Amino acid sequence: MKRFPEDMLGRTVIVTGAGNGLGLGIAKRLVAGGARVLFVDQDPVVLTRVEEGKQKTMSAMVKDLAEPGAAAAVFQYAKESLGAVDTLINNAAWSFHKPMTDVATSEFDRLIAINQRAPFFLAQEFLKQLPHAEDPAIVNIGSVNAQRGNPNLVPYAGTKGAIVAMTRAMAIEMASSGVRVNSICPAAIRTHVTEGLIASGVIEPEKLFQKYLIKRFASVEEIAELVAYLCSDAARYVTGADWEIDGGYCAV
Ligand SMILES: NC(=O)c1ccc[n+]([C@@H]2O[C@H](COP(=O)([O-])OP(=O)(O)OC[C@H]3O[C@@H](n4cnc5c(N)ncnc54)[C@H](O)[C@@H]3O)[C@@H](O)[C@H]2O)c1
Repeated sequence: MKRFPEDMLGRTVIVTGAGNGLGLGIAKRLVAGGARVLFVDQDPVVLTRVEEGKQKTMSAMVKDLAEPGAAAAVFQYAKESLGAVDTLINNAAWSFHKPMTDVATSEFDRLIAINQRAPFFLAQEFLKQLPHAEDPAIVNIGSVNAQRGNPNLVPYAGTKGAIVAMTRAMAIEMASSGVRVNSICPAAIRTHVTEGLIASGVIEPEKLFQKYLIKRFASVEEIAELVAYLCSDAARYVTGADWEIDGGYCAV
């Protein structure tokens, strides 16, 4: 079994939403473990992130994953810049906090396009282009909102529920191709998004942590480590599973 810093050696990975927050942390962790990684984001900052990394095993692509045809374009670029992809991390997502009465159809449709449709078509492209890889793997990033209800997050919760449900169905359909598919459901992670929500009063940490057994935010590194495990050969017997990494939130 390969161990860090070689646990990702030989893998070629696409990480979506790798310009910021969790996606950036996951992509960096996989690079540190020896993977070749394509960082994809609609935010051009992703180019700077990869430039700063100064490694030949890192590549960047600016792409809005809600565009039809985005998945094929991403896989084409990955193949040209790094080689055939054997690992996919569906991390990019959008969220907004709004009462149900304020949600516009256009917002709902864009949310579905980013959070649910893009992961599906990226997984479809993954399957179409699957190389003769040793242990191909997909990790889909869900949320505790797939498991527990919260106000002002109804459309987002729906897309994350879809991620967990699609993960199970994908694992079954892709098993004969040797692909392992898992999802993770984090609770609140300390990122620039949560910092902003605290600053604007949408998240009140004291109130939030009343629901947690471990009364703090997760760090990006803690979540990235679980993703790395699920990609690694240590997890070769693990598929079709949803992993809550939530400070005990869903246990209560
Ligand atoms: N932060 C949390 O507390 C938390 C908790 C549970 C789950 N999550 C999940 O973790 C993942 C990462 O969240 P984060 O907190 O790092 O958010 P973030 O906003 O920091 O990062 C998301 C990234 O996705 C990119 N992105 C958004 N729409 C895109 C599109 N159409 N095309 C390409 N890229 C796009 C953004 O530019 C951004 O870089 C998401 O799936 C989110 O739902 C986050």
